[in-house]
Amino acid sequence: MDKLLIKGGKRLSGEITIAGAKNAALPILCAGLLTADTVHLSNVPHLQDVNTMLKLLKQMGMRIEYIGDKIDLSGRSIDKLEAPYELVKTMRASILVLGPLLARFGEAKVSLPGGCAIGSRPVDQHIKGLQAMGAEITIEAGYIHAKAKKLRGSRIVTDMITVTGTENLLMAATLAEGQTVLENAAREPEVTDLANLLVAMGAKIDGIGTDRLVVQGVDSLHGATHHVIPDRIETGTFLCAVAAAGGDVTLKKTRPDILDVALDKLREAGVIITTGPDWIRAQMSARPKAVSFRTTEYPGFPTDMQAQFMAMNCVAEGSSSVSETIFENRFMHVQELNRLGAKIGIDGHTAFIEGVDKLVGAPVMATDLRASASLVIAGMAAQGETLVDRIYHLDRGYDRMEVKLSAVGADVQRVK
Ligand code: EPU
Repeated sequence: MDKLLIKGGKRLSGEITIAGAKNAALPILCAGLLTADTVHLSNVPHLQDVNTMLKLLKQMGMRIEYIGDKIDLSGRSIDKLEAPYELVKTMRASILVLGPLLARFGEAKVSLPGGCAIGSRPVDQHIKGLQAMGAEITIEAGYIHAKAKKLRGSRIVTDMITVTGTENLLMAATLAEGQTVLENAAREPEVTDLANLLVAMGAKIDGIGTDRLVVQGVDSLHGATHHVIPDRIETGTFLCAVAAAGGDVTLKKTRPDILDVALDKLREAGVIITTGPDWIRAQMSARPKAVSFRTTEYPGFPTDMQAQFMAMNCVAEGSSSVSETIFENRFMHVQELNRLGAKIGIDGHTAFIEGVDKLVGAPVMATDLRASASLVIAGMAAQGETLVDRIYHLDRGYDRMEVKLSAVGADVQRVK
């Protein structure tokens, strides 16, 4: 099993190119199921989760051409309307095939995702929404069986804001009969990116980027060409690395306009941030100042950056509090950060961090994707060597993180 060996204390300097967004690419790949025509995608990140999604789509009969960061999908000969447990258990985003399969083929069998390291993460809202659109859904032997001759438009108010729930229902609604209104919809930029692709495929969607999506169903969708948006979480992760380790790094092919709250927090921490339309420069020459925050849905502070900012807070001047409101168990990195000498206590959904002068490297274990990223950042800010185990979590969502970090002067090596 691969590990990352980090020798801390190196300042970072240079440029990093940001990849396409994982959480946009995954639903967008599933949108390929909605048409028999070819969907041409570019800026698709090289990630384990993308490979898993492609494996799943291939099993369904999707024709896939994958060169560099470009993927062509052809859904002309989809003949297996099933997402098996073996794949769903490795990637929960597999649930995103449910809406498109049901809408186009009237049937789908998708394994129910189990629990997960960051929370229980049920999919009841996906199911509730599809039922409101007329689907008959039964759960048997660990599988969701969904059927509907033709989905009907409906007004759906989800109990909470759900990103993949909104995406699943949005995709389903594009081919439903009549109008669907999705109230309390997620406004994450990745939802908007999916919606923009669907419009390019012939879908009729109003309210894109708002919490009320109005969809007029159409009979069929056609092929389209789409460039996936940059990964704001990868961007934020590298910015936290600069804040914690110090340096002067420019991130290219990214989008500052979808990172407002994170950039404000970094400025509050003392990082000098300058931006252009598609780049962000971060300069940090002092110890960061501690920043407190509370995760919320977009445009608030993203839960997917909570762990990385916490790593920065560990070496910051002063104390901070970090409240996690999206997932009930997303503090698995705390005990590992404490192994490096951090001083973090947890009370319910809030972590209290007392910044320390120095962290000292140690062997640590990654528990989920963003937790892994926080350990890499902490390792880079720590004295001595940190060995991060179980980095398969990292490879699910970051495109060669150690290569990108090494290119700006970090001492991060992949070891077997
Ligand atoms: N929820 C329910 N029922 C549902 C759906 C969600 O109770 O039917 C709850 C969840 O348990 C959670 C909250 O609602 O407490 C929000 O979950 P959401 O559905 O928005 O999360 P998700 O769609 O499963 C996506 C991202 C996550 C990201 C969250 C929140 C993808 C593929 N995944 O997950 O990304 O943390 O939204 O922004 O888009 C990551 O990239 O590391 C990651 C975990």
